[in-house]
Amino acid sequence: MDLKLNSRMVGFGSFAPKQSVDNEKLCERVDTSDEWIRTRTGIKSRRIADEDQPTSELALQAAKCAIESSGLTLNQIDLVIVATITPDMAFPSTACLLQHKLGLGKVACFDLEAACSGFLYALDVADSMLASGRYQNALVVGAEKMSSIMDWEDRTTCVLFGDGAGAAVLSKNGKGPELLDFFCGADGSNPSLLCQPGGGSAKPASLTSVNAREHFLKMNGREIFKSAVRVMERSARVLLDRHGIGIEEVNHVIPHQANVRIVESLSQRLEIPLDKFFCNLDKFGNTSAASIPLAFDEGLKNGIFKSGDLGLLVAFGAGLTWSSTLVRF
Ligand code: ACO
Repeated sequence: MDLKLNSRMVGFGSFAPKQSVDNEKLCERVDTSDEWIRTRTGIKSRRIADEDQPTSELALQAAKCAIESSGLTLNQIDLVIVATITPDMAFPSTACLLQHKLGLGKVACFDLEAACSGFLYALDVADSMLASGRYQNALVVGAEKMSSIMDWEDRTTCVLFGDGAGAAVLSKNGKGPELLDFFCGADGSNPSLLCQPGGGSAKPASLTSVNAREHFLKMNGREIFKSAVRVMERSARVLLDRHGIGIEEVNHVIPHQANVRIVESLSQRLEIPLDKFFCNLDKFGNTSAASIPLAFDEGLKNGIFKSGDLGLLVAFGAGLTWSSTLVRF
């Protein structure tokens, strides 16, 4: 095998739970309005998983679609990476649970946690592992049950997120979008900007932590907004500059689907027209690690990304983390 070959996404799939909760419906539960949510975020609705539908179940449905569309058999998959901040449990990993549910061989499985940048981080890691020659075909999944860490008494966060999953099969052989390059970065200096403080070793679950609602997501929305725009622009430019690519050569930007105003600011800062940005956050809200693959799959299925087009995937998330990926369709 030629180790210099770039990986290709030879299969792709996504899954969103059936239950769709629009803004009007959310108003029955939270003191908010459709107008506030739409104008501040662009979100109209989100999918919410059933109680008995953990992250591994969402991942399973997306992974099945991705493997089927790759044309590979289950026993050809020899690496599974699941990017998630809402694993079924602290351990074992959701990737191990997924391996068993799919009926894969006893292959390497692990979770990767980079919040909303997780899927792009996982693509970078899987690509590097394939480049080593020790693995042949990797299943990479971004899956989240964000509703499991939402504080339904905090209207500043609970209106923003949704549940879903997306998956890619990476291989050095076969046809599909080619992964040209990656860039990942992080700044851990201010973790409280966006975090789930309770349940880890710093604040193990206790009556006090539960009463203080510390097992739910906490966010400083304004600061995250400002950082998001800055770091997404920077990480996009790193990749474009590294390859001497002019912004006019980029056909599609598939950004992390957090907030349409962040996407608009990014479009202005990069001077890439908004109509080149593919967004479906109006239907799904922010699904964290699932957001880019959910959008990517929709664009692929609808024939929006044409063969030969250049795609730029850009993410940011808790950490703070950021990541960008260049794709040739
Ligand atoms: N409904 C109605 N009113 C609300 C709601 C709501 N759901 N939420 C907040 N408000 C009110 C506030 O109480 C405040 O009222 P006040 O002025 O009387 O005090 C007012 O609206 C303005 O609140 P802000 O927080 O200043 O609103 P802002 O315009 O900053 O928008 C938002 C908030 C949408 C969260 C924005 O800051 C944002 O999008 N930030 C980025 C968030 C993000 O992308 N997070 C995902 C990170 S990715 C990851 O890793 C998970």
